[in-house]
Amino acid sequence: MELIHRIKDLRHFVQSHRSAGKRIALVPTMGNLHAGHIRLVEEARRHGDIVVCTIFVNPMQFGPNEDLDAYPRTLDADMTKLRKAGCDCVFAPTVAEVYPHGLHQQTVVSVPGISARHCGASRPGHFDGVATVVSKLFNMVEPDTALFGLKDYQQFMVITRMVADLCIPVQLVGVETQREESGLALSSRNGYLSADEKQRASTLFQVLQHSAEQLLAGDANADVEAKALTALQAVGFRPDYFTVCHAQTLEPASHSDHDLVILAAAWMGKTRLIDNIRVQRND
Ligand code: PAF
Repeated sequence: MELIHRIKDLRHFVQSHRSAGKRIALVPTMGNLHAGHIRLVEEARRHGDIVVCTIFVNPMQFGPNEDLDAYPRTLDADMTKLRKAGCDCVFAPTVAEVYPHGLHQQTVVSVPGISARHCGASRPGHFDGVATVVSKLFNMVEPDTALFGLKDYQQFMVITRMVADLCIPVQLVGVETQREESGLALSSRNGYLSADEKQRASTLFQVLQHSAEQLLAGDANADVEAKALTALQAVGFRPDYFTVCHAQTLEPASHSDHDLVILAAAWMGKTRLIDNIRVQRND
């Protein structure tokens, strides 16, 4: 497995494999890898001959009061896991390599509409940062396929729209959320939770599952949302949003919508967690 820090070396690596007829699969990450990321790499192996994993804590997607400095940077441990998972190349650039003119001089990729609500409303500028860095990574690697975890459902939909709007020739694959036995979605930010917070945090997925059942039983969206907020508060969560949405537009769902996703974000102590569940409502 190669470790590359410079864009020109990355291009050279990718080009040498592409000219040998190999398909390239890309797994973009911010590092501090857990089993959810490794699942993406395993899935990438099914889609490409060469798997490139990027590790870059992207400052552009963090707000001024967010955890950019505290975000765990664990390159050596990540490399060990990636080598074992069969990754071929790790691209770990510096901030100056990705943003040579500084963040404020960077051309911004902004995806209107689908970025606006939910995490976009709570974290202004977040999806501009994600769309910008992902489009740069796509231009650096030119992958045939790119894989993303569906825990970040809104992020996946933003990237899907960006790829369509900018005619980027890449196939996107969304990979199901990996969970602990308790149901807690795997996330690098789980490392911020105390043992007690972690145990209570598993309620988030239980509430999502229960809410999905209530929707299937015919309960109104607003009632389901209100009960979920109460249940989350009861275990000490400070909910940010809990919304029944149309699964493609991410607009709040109407009663006649069938293809749904419930998107949730909530604070447990100082840690903001997100999760979601898909629901296919019948007539
Ligand atoms: O999901 C993430 O880890 C990040 O948002 C991504 C897609 C790697 C962009 O920095």
